[in-house]
Amino acid sequence: MVNRRLIIAVDGPAGAGKSTIAKRIAEILELEYIDTGAMYRALTLKVIRAGIDPEDTENILKLMETTSIYFKDNHIYLDGTTVDNEIRKKIVNNNVSVISKIKEVRENMVHLQRSLAESSNLIMDGRDIGTVVLPNANYKFFITASIEERGRRRYKELLEKEEKNISYEQILTEIKNRDRIDSTRKIAPLKKSLDAYEIDTTEKTVEECVEEILRIIEGG
Ligand code: DC
Repeated sequence: MVNRRLIIAVDGPAGAGKSTIAKRIAEILELEYIDTGAMYRALTLKVIRAGIDPEDTENILKLMETTSIYFKDNHIYLDGTTVDNEIRKKIVNNNVSVISKIKEVRENMVHLQRSLAESSNLIMDGRDIGTVVLPNANYKFFITASIEERGRRRYKELLEKEEKNISYEQILTEIKNRDRIDSTRKIAPLKKSLDAYEIDTTEKTVEECVEEILRIIEGG
């Protein structure tokens, strides 16, 4: 049997359902799942902990030199410690887009992400995977949902965690802000790759979206 590589790129804005869908596809097709947003979040967490201003590029780059970020058993590690929960906090949500704009930060992350894709069959999700990180992926998907639905999902997610002192309107404002920064930044902005399949998840269940994607993969 020919050992065919399978590389799937998934992009889209915050709260569209990328990671939930990508994780399911990874389980079904036995692929490794790489959440690239978690990598930018881990660096952001370190910057916040160090008390560095997210606009202070020089010190962020210095900090990055002594930072290790990797995945093991589907957990994200920052300097050897898992930070799965810490990276989902509001303070990280609100600062990650600013730090993700820095050219050298992106170069470093893209390098790490490409090296992960050299050795395994995987599904990787983020903002620039189909356009920049893995332009030769076998399949590319661009996952979207209405801004209101994305706001509702993030709101529910935060309520289920410990962050209950936030309103739906605040979340909506934060998502709009993150969308604006992610889509208008100079380097690798969020945008649909021309050869990506677009999946609008607004009125679909996770399983419906997963089935739609599997049909495309199995058909091609
Ligand atoms: O997918 P997420 O919400 O966890 O991503 C967090 C932030 O990281 C997102 O607002 C922008 C940045 N990001 C990026 O710039 N490029 C990626 N490939 C993934 C995430």
